[in-house]
Amino acid sequence: MIIGSGKLSLNCLVLKIIAAVFVCLTSTVVAINVPNPNYADALTKSILFFEGQRSGKLPPNQRVTWRKDSALLDGADKGVDLVGGYYDAGDNVKFHFPMAFTTTMLAWSVEQFKNSMGPDLQHAMEAIRWSTDYFLKATNIPNVVYAQVGNAEGDHNCWERPEDMDTPRTAFAVTAQAPGSEVSAEIAAALASASVVFKRTDPAYSKLLVNRAVQVFEFADKYRGSYNDHLGSWVCPFYCDYNGYKDELLWAAAWLLKATRKPMYWIYVKQNIINFKSDMESSLSEFGWDAKHAGINVLISKFVLDNPSNANPFLPYADTFVCSVLPESPTNTVRYTPGGLMYKSGICNMQNPTALSFLLLTYARYMKSRVIRCGNIDVTQKMLIRFARSQVNYILGINPMNMSYMVGFGTKFPQRIHHRGASLPSINQHPEKMGCKEGTPYFLSENRNPNLHIGAVVGGPDIKDYFVDSRPNAAQSEPTTYVNAPLVGLLAYFKAHP
Ligand SMILES: *[C@@H]1O[C@H](CO)[C@@H](O)[C@H](O)[C@H]1NC(C)=O
Repeated sequence: MIIGSGKLSLNCLVLKIIAAVFVCLTSTVVAINVPNPNYADALTKSILFFEGQRSGKLPPNQRVTWRKDSALLDGADKGVDLVGGYYDAGDNVKFHFPMAFTTTMLAWSVEQFKNSMGPDLQHAMEAIRWSTDYFLKATNIPNVVYAQVGNAEGDHNCWERPEDMDTPRTAFAVTAQAPGSEVSAEIAAALASASVVFKRTDPAYSKLLVNRAVQVFEFADKYRGSYNDHLGSWVCPFYCDYNGYKDELLWAAAWLLKATRKPMYWIYVKQNIINFKSDMESSLSEFGWDAKHAGINVLISKFVLDNPSNANPFLPYADTFVCSVLPESPTNTVRYTPGGLMYKSGICNMQNPTALSFLLLTYARYMKSRVIRCGNIDVTQKMLIRFARSQVNYILGINPMNMSYMVGFGTKFPQRIHHRGASLPSINQHPEKMGCKEGTPYFLSENRNPNLHIGAVVGGPDIKDYFVDSRPNAAQSEPTTYVNAPLVGLLAYFKAHP
């Protein structure tokens, strides 16, 4: 579980002990002539990861076999079926706000890069469907959107396998009287983007998704409000909406424009990019599960690049994003580690290089031969792609620690990730139930995790490129679904351009 916007974690189990191993690096020189990593292998693994995060009844073709069925009564407290979906990270709560963003980014990854996915395309589409099947359940009742299942405090107080979980599985909803436009609109974006992915291979499913997206977006826009105000004690501080809901409304409308091509969504985006101007302009370079601002402009840029009369303000905003991120830009505001990794936050930093690099790569492909002016330098497509590759290479092992931050990739990778299921013996090894506190010795142990959560990408190193491979060190050692989702697209592209 990850806490947003750099706020410090309350959830790191009971202890405040830092069992840190301080590694003193004498050199931060990055080798120059090392070959590029095996992107194809990393792509396969990045998608496999999602199977280890599945909640609900697992299918017969489940490849991650140390995981079993879990949370089979979710929704029962409200008389609805909410079985399925994903756990967000190393805990067993289903937080729909980041789950929806994860889905949108998986769908964008497939929409952009499906041609280079090969046999992994099938698995990527299954990973999306695992989510959208669930969101169809979560939005089945008009004007009700389920926003979370599980009690985060209760869950975080235990170190338990999802298969054994016995903490309250309360389902929380937003409604017309108690709205949550951010979570509803992000779910609408997820459904709309997924409808694009399934358009050709499963038109009936695609239609179902887009129709539901339209309905959920109408609900999100008509009953405006933040779920913080109604579910605050449940969703905060974990996935509080720190950035407001206006960005999600625009983001959902932009995805509905892409999915339906209906002028009403273009009108909505065009008008509200102006109406929400102050909100937009304060966050032009942000992109992640909470802030969608930079993503909106990159997504819309595809529609306006060839049409100067529609370019404003989308292209200038997207260009500002590029200039504020790219290290060589004179107006860059983002920090980098000495080894070259983008660094924006102490908790799960890796979500920043993956999400922002995805946007830069996607914008590069949209802009083709166009050149962006950042102060006195010209930024070309090639520079953006080179930058995105540098971030991916860092994650896969070309870094001062000489380690891959993806579990199971390369020869050196994190062995003690902050993940309940991966760190406890599996049901295969230990069929007896293990209660809430029975996992604590495993949590505290310095042994390697018994289950290799292949493809999990962890929060990663600190601002000095140091990484402490320790389970209690959740800020660095916890994987999340929204780190991997944009990485899937990046890896597919670099697999085709090694
Ligand atoms: C990483 O590899 C380089 C080049 O082989 C070496 O000089 C450096 O000491 C290594 N760093 C660590 C932390 O192992």
